[in-house]
Amino acid sequence: AFIVTENCIRCKYTDCVEVCPVDCFYEGPNFLVINPDECIDCALCEPECPAEAIFSEDEVPENQKEFIELNADLAEVWPNISEKKDAMEDAEKWDGVDGKLEYLEQ
Ligand code: SF4
Ligand code: F3S
Repeated sequence: AFIVTENCIRCKYTDCVEVCPVDCFYEGPNFLVINPDECIDCALCEPECPAEAIFSEDEVPENQKEFIELNADLAEVWPNISEKKDAMEDAEKWDGVDGKLEYLEQ
């Protein structure tokens, strides 16, 4: 599966959801996740993310590994999102900031 990692937090550009052929993105207050059981590994979403937050599971950076489980867990509780919406206010300001995991709202 593909995994959404930390740099999505507080940006949530949502370009990714538009290209997903199986609509497997789920939306929280300031982050999106991919349901790993539904993702068909088409890789279309990866280049669409302006924040470069999406990785193939086997290419997730070492310091982002906890997001593999986070995607699986949060996809169970958050609602589906299949249409692009406006990015979060201040998305550009937060893009690339380190340590955003502490701001994750569930
Ligand atoms: Fe959807 Fe394809 Fe991305 Fe998986 S890799 S989340 S199926 S767009
Ligand atoms: Fe997040 Fe990138 Fe999608 S910032 S909402 S993974 S386009």
